[in-house]
Amino acid sequence: MTHRLPISSETRLACASRCVAVCSVTFAAAFVMVACGGGSSDNGSASRRDELGAKGKETALAAQGKHIFRFETFGDEAKWTDLLRMHEVISASVDPVTALSVGLKVDADALPAAVVQGIRSGRVDLHSPATTIALLKLDAVVGLKGTVETVRGVDRLTRVGITCALCHSTVDNSFAPGIGKRLDGWANRDLNVGAVIALSPALDAATKLVFNSWGPGKYDPRFNIDGVNKPVVIPPAYGLAGIHSITFTGDGEEIAYWNRYVAVTQMGGQGTFTEPRLNLSITNGTQDLVSSKLPALQAYQLSLSAPSAPPGSFDAAAAGRGKAVFETRGKCVTCHSGASFTDANLTLHPPSASMAEPESPSYAARSATKLYRTSPLRGVWQHAPYFHDGSAATLEDVGRIYNTKRSLGLSSDDISDLAQYLKSL
Ligand code: HEC
Ligand code: HEC
Repeated sequence: MTHRLPISSETRLACASRCVAVCSVTFAAAFVMVACGGGSSDNGSASRRDELGAKGKETALAAQGKHIFRFETFGDEAKWTDLLRMHEVISASVDPVTALSVGLKVDADALPAAVVQGIRSGRVDLHSPATTIALLKLDAVVGLKGTVETVRGVDRLTRVGITCALCHSTVDNSFAPGIGKRLDGWANRDLNVGAVIALSPALDAATKLVFNSWGPGKYDPRFNIDGVNKPVVIPPAYGLAGIHSITFTGDGEEIAYWNRYVAVTQMGGQGTFTEPRLNLSITNGTQDLVSSKLPALQAYQLSLSAPSAPPGSFDAAAAGRGKAVFETRGKCVTCHSGASFTDANLTLHPPSASMAEPESPSYAARSATKLYRTSPLRGVWQHAPYFHDGSAATLEDVGRIYNTKRSLGLSSDDISDLAQYLKSL
C-alpha cells in the first residue's frame, strides 16, 4: 500500500480528544479484522470462474457488476465536479466527522493497517478535510469516487463522482458507527442526500431549500425532471430476483430499465435515457458509458438476496399466529402473494391500494405507469420506515394503518402478531 493519511503533530493534538466520540467501538477487534485483510471474495470467485461452466459465467458477470455497483460513476463527474463543484466543497469543509454525520459510510476493509492504527490511537485527524481526501484516495468512502492528484507531495481532490452504492449500500458498523464492512443492496437510510447536494456553491437559495427539506433516507428521483418536490424513501436493491416490475410504481420490467434511468437522469452519467410515457429523452455527453455496463450491474443486483431476520429478533409463536392473520382476516396475501410476497409479475394497482395515498401530489401520478406495485416483503424487517413516502414508522404502524383504512376489524393482538410475522420474513 502506498497510500498514507496525513498525520502531523498538530493533527495528533486535534484528534486526541474529539475522535473518541466517533470511534468509540472495539478498535482492537476491528484492527485485527482489517489487518488480516477481511476483504471481499472477488479473487476467489475469479479463480473458480473457469471450472464452473454456466454458473461460473453468471458469477463472473455478477463480480463485474459488483465493481460497477460500488465504483462506477459512468462519467457523472461532469455533474458532481464540473457543475456542482462538490470537489471544492469536500476539500474545503467536509472532514470525516461531518461526512459521517450526514450519513456517508466508510468501508473498513479498504483501510490499510496503518490507517486503522492511526484512527485507533488518535493520530488520524477526523476533523480535517485532508483525511476525507485520503479516504477517497483509498476508495473507502462508500458511493463516492474521487480522483486525487499529488502535486509536490500534497494530495488534491480534482474530480469527484457518485456510484450506486451511495444510496444502496451501507456498512455493518463493525469498526465504529458508520465504519464497517459493506452491505450492498441495503438502502442507506441515514444518508441525507439532499443536505449533501445543498452544499454545492452552484445552487441558488430556492433550490437549496428544496434539497434541505428531504431529510435522511429520502430522495426525489423525479424533482429535476418535473420540478415537483415530494421525495420517496430510498428502497433496498436486494431481493429482486424473479420480480419483473421495478420501482414503487413498476415503471420498468427489469432492473436495467431503472438503472439506466438513475445513471443518466439522476447521477448524471454519460449516456441516453428515453421514456415515451413520460415524454422524456435525456442525453448527457457524447459517449455512452452506461449501456455496456447494464447487464453486469443487473446480474449483481439479482444476486443480492434479502437478508434474513436475525435470530431472536421476533417472537416465533406470535409470528405463527400473525401468518394466519396475514393469510386470512388481514387479506394481505391477496396482493402480497408468492415467494417474494408480491403479485408484481401479474398486476399493478391503482393509487388507492397504497396506504400512503391519497397524497398531494401523488407519487404515482408522476410515474410512467400512474400505478403502484405491491412491495415485495422479504427483508422488510430491515428497512423501516415503510410505504413509498415513509409514512409508517414501524411494522406495527403498517398493521394499524391497514386495519383502519381497509376496515379489517383486527384486534390489537392481531396487529402485533402480524408485525411479528412481518419481522420474520
Ligand atoms: C441518490 C440516491 C440514489 C442513487 C445514487 C441510486 N438510487 Fe436507486 N433508487 C433511489 C430511489 C429514491 C429509488 C426509488 C424510486 C422509485 O421506486 O420510484 C430507487 C430505486 C431503485 C431500484 C428499484 C428497487 C425496487 O424495489 O424495484 C433499483 C433496482 C435501484 N434503485 C438501483 C440503483 C442502481 C443500480 C443505481 C446506480 C446506477 C442506483 N439505484 C442509484 C435512489 C438512488
Ligand atoms: C390491494 C393490494 C394490497 C393489499 C391487500 C395489501 N397490500 Fe401491502 N402493499 C401494497 C402496495 C401497492 C404497497 C406499496 C405502497 C406504497 O409504497 O405506497 C404495499 C406496501 C406494503 C408494505 C410496505 C413495504 C415497504 O417496503 O415499505 C408492507 C409492510 C405491507 N404492504 C404489508 C401489508 C399487510 C400486512 C397487509 C395486510 C394487512 C397488506 N400489505 C395488504 C398492496 C397491498
